[in-house]
Amino acid sequence: MWPCPLLCCLSPLLFLCLLFLPSGHLCPSVCSCMDYHTIDCRDQGLPRVPSPFPLDVRKLLIADNNIQEIPGDFFIFYSDLVYLDFRNNSIATLQDGTFSSSSKLVYLDLSYNNLTQLDAGIFKSAEKLIKLSLGNNNLAEVDEAAFESLKQLQVLELNDNNLQTLNVATFDALPNLRTIRLEGNPWLCDCDFASLFSWLEANAPKLQKGLDEIQCTVPVEEITIFLSELSEASFRDCKFSLSLTDLIIIIFSGVAVSIAAIVSSFVLALIVNCFQRCAPSKDDDEDEDDDD
Ligand SMILES: *[C@@H]1O[C@H](CO)[C@@H](O)[C@H](O)[C@H]1NC(C)=O
Ligand SMILES: *[C@@H]1O[C@H](CO)[C@@H](O)[C@H](O)[C@H]1NC(C)=O
Repeated sequence: MWPCPLLCCLSPLLFLCLLFLPSGHLCPSVCSCMDYHTIDCRDQGLPRVPSPFPLDVRKLLIADNNIQEIPGDFFIFYSDLVYLDFRNNSIATLQDGTFSSSSKLVYLDLSYNNLTQLDAGIFKSAEKLIKLSLGNNNLAEVDEAAFESLKQLQVLELNDNNLQTLNVATFDALPNLRTIRLEGNPWLCDCDFASLFSWLEANAPKLQKGLDEIQCTVPVEEITIFLSELSEASFRDCKFSLSLTDLIIIIFSGVAVSIAAIVSSFVLALIVNCFQRCAPSKDDDEDEDDDD
């Protein structure tokens, strides 16, 4: 912390002191605060986000530390943040609602962390984001609604993760996307990949090196090829094949139909039986007549 009260006693430093007083907040000792709005805490071996910062911080550089989480209330305090560089830390999860007050955030770098999944709406409210870096994590699951409301996003980096599959609907939320990085993932070019492949073919200019930079593994043969070696025809056999969900639906509807058939024949049998027993037949009447 700045020893301001002490410095104030020394008149030559009064000016310097006044320079830091108006914000009313002190700079964390391990960081350097270039001005009220820019704070640099890079490469200090920090295990957590130091605090407090001046509340009006706009640019925070906190890369190359060992921070394991972004506190859930972080953006509630620092809602003026425009630029946040969290590259090369140990963040494994993002709490739901972390970005709920991040309406001014334009640049977010979370690359070189330990993220494994992105939930639906996790960046919701970060509506001004233009660049989102998530490369070099462990992402294996990205919800198709993970990027919802990011209407301004132009650059999305998902390279060098653990993605085998990604729903193409994930990109529907991003009308302004100009650059996307997907290379360095263990993509599986099975039938589920067909729609993503069509999207990539149509959006190849958004990839830095086009379809040449992305590789995928062909399931049965277990060979790895470049997407540029594939074509729509490669997925021709998929047109009529059934996905697991389709199969489950078919099996369940089959079971449901069978149960319905059994129940209805049982009911029918009961009704017939009832009619036979309860409604006296002509034969019975005649028998009774004979007895009289
Ligand atoms: C990550 O930060 C450490 C220092 O904390 C540094 O030694 C390392 O080179 C950085 N790695 C990357 C990929 O930037
Ligand atoms: C990342 O997560 C994996 C397992 O989830 C763990 O083994 C590894 O130590 C973590 N790395 C960092 C830098 O936290």
